[in-house]
Amino acid sequence: MTDRDVSLSHAIREVLFDQATIATRVAEIASAIAYDYRKRRPLVVGILNGCFPLIADLVRSIDIPLEVDFMAVSSYGSGTSSSGVVRILKDLNQAIDGRDVLLVEDIVDTGLTLRYLLDNLNTRRPASIEVCTLLDKQEARTERLEVRYVGFRCPNEFVVGYGLDYAGLYRNLPYIGVLRPEVYQKS
Ligand code: PRP
Repeated sequence: MTDRDVSLSHAIREVLFDQATIATRVAEIASAIAYDYRKRRPLVVGILNGCFPLIADLVRSIDIPLEVDFMAVSSYGSGTSSSGVVRILKDLNQAIDGRDVLLVEDIVDTGLTLRYLLDNLNTRRPASIEVCTLLDKQEARTERLEVRYVGFRCPNEFVVGYGLDYAGLYRNLPYIGVLRPEVYQKS
């Protein structure tokens, strides 16, 4: 096996958003969030697993007091399309009544995951809930949702990197790219 065979970038057909572009956009969103929440102390909730690079970069650029918590949900298994079945694998560590909650996602695709999460969390009586996603794949949307902070509109392609996976892999790519079809067609 050669170095080229094991290199992650070998599986990428096209880079959509490179590291510098992502960093610039994340800093812009962080500034907007810091301004919007300047009189509040938001609870920033990362939706695992895909959120981890974004939430790490984002909260370090938000220059106001905030708290961080995580939820883990499952919607896809290891396939490439949404099952519509959402399960909570890990819930919040705290109550959110009266809190200003900001959900952080890597991607909103069909919107089924977010629809479930918003319905579930709204029953807990937060003061507000808003959503921040790095990628918004509007063409795939089946749910009507309001997403307040969007990094980039995403084409309807199979994208990986910066937290986004295919079968658990490619989350550690520092950029976002389109997976070569051969990669998922052969598995
Ligand atoms: C991804 C992503 C969202 C969801 C979006 O998570 O992080 O939570 O899918 O898809 P939807 O809008 O069609 O519901 P996934 O279930 O793949 O888990 P992961 O974050 O662990 O990769």
